[in-house]
Amino acid sequence: MKSGDVELLIQQVQSSQPMDSAKLDEFIQAVAQRSIDIKLVERWLKVVHSNGISVAETTQLTKGMMLSGAVIDWSDNSMVVDKHSTGGVGDKMSLMLAPILAACGLKVPMLAGRGLGHTGGTIDKLEAIPGFNCSLNPQQMKTQVEAIGCCIAAQNDAIAPADGLLYAIRDVTDTIDSIPLITASIISKKAAEGLGTLVLDVKCGKAAFMQTLEDATGLAESMVGAAKGLGINTVAQITQMDYPIGQYVGNSLEVLGSVMILQGKGSKDTLDIVILQCAELLTRTGKAESHVQAEKIISQVIDNGMALEKFKQMCIQQGVDQIIAHKLCETPHDVLTQSAHVTEIKAQDTGYICEIDSMMLADIARKHGAGRFSIEDEIIAEIGFEICFERGNQINSGDVWLKFHHNEPLTEDDLNKLTNSLSTTAQPFVHKKRLISIIE
Ligand code: URA
Repeated sequence: MKSGDVELLIQQVQSSQPMDSAKLDEFIQAVAQRSIDIKLVERWLKVVHSNGISVAETTQLTKGMMLSGAVIDWSDNSMVVDKHSTGGVGDKMSLMLAPILAACGLKVPMLAGRGLGHTGGTIDKLEAIPGFNCSLNPQQMKTQVEAIGCCIAAQNDAIAPADGLLYAIRDVTDTIDSIPLITASIISKKAAEGLGTLVLDVKCGKAAFMQTLEDATGLAESMVGAAKGLGINTVAQITQMDYPIGQYVGNSLEVLGSVMILQGKGSKDTLDIVILQCAELLTRTGKAESHVQAEKIISQVIDNGMALEKFKQMCIQQGVDQIIAHKLCETPHDVLTQSAHVTEIKAQDTGYICEIDSMMLADIARKHGAGRFSIEDEIIAEIGFEICFERGNQINSGDVWLKFHHNEPLTEDDLNKLTNSLSTTAQPFVHKKRLISIIE
């Protein structure tokens, strides 16, 4: 592509004119083929980040990025579904959602990412399972989904390769937090799965990337607009992300928490969010007539063991030894790595739990190896938290409310921060629902 054509696109964005659509397509192809001057891409990203672009341009950008790589072709995609979450603390939903929906007869060809900032990533969690292989190409994804109903694979160069370069440049040019760029990045990869229906979980709160309802709504509207523009039946659920989800946070511990849910045990908070997302997909595909009926179907596939069986099949198909996969589903503690130490943190006051500082907990876990600070960092799967009480529960001074799983000794500062991340009130605390609003 000629540099003058990119200059034209830059000028058009700067002067709030629509970008020339043929040149925008050409630009995306050139990015995907890496045949363009990086300096020009940086300038284009910066003007899009500062000036914004229209919904129509965002949709065209998303489509171009989707078409820059392979798109899975299903002869009928009416039962092909997925979910994307913008990321939270303890957000392990994908690990349960894919096998539950497969057990209900839907097809879930899920592409997932690694941890970003303080939030964990589905791929890092699955790699806590010995032998789990997330490197599937689009054909392998399709074959596995046709065989068992679900797969979870890492994003790779075959899918939306334009995003690979744009994302890497955004990371170093401070242009990550742009609604059109986030939209195109996420939706192009989901659209490349060939989906019929998509549910988006847009997290909102102190431990989310979108901290205000206004920002979360803006992102939700943009993603729903672009996905619908590509013909995908899409809904966004804006959900509260101030306090950690469920009982477990950390890679191995979240696998444990997910297996417990599939075994019919586990935290109600986690199960409620899984049901919220699965029920939306079951009703939108006609597998259930209502959310009430969808909940019954979900309970059935958990109670009769089919969802856990799908999870086991997914593990085996993706490289886990059969005996290990069986053990993981029966006694997960025997398979997952354990930390050298578990430190118990006690409550200082008596009262009702009103706040758990998820950001503080996530930052400490990340520092101890649960997350990365740079791309080369190795995740330590066993690092994380067990949260022994739910928000709104009554707690007495001296009760153990948190167990921190770690390998390195804790500093005085870590201990103070862990202790201070719990807040209680004297008055009973009214437990707020996770779902804040729905955008469709
Ligand atoms: N995840 C993505 O894949 N892209 C973004 O831009 C943000 C989160």
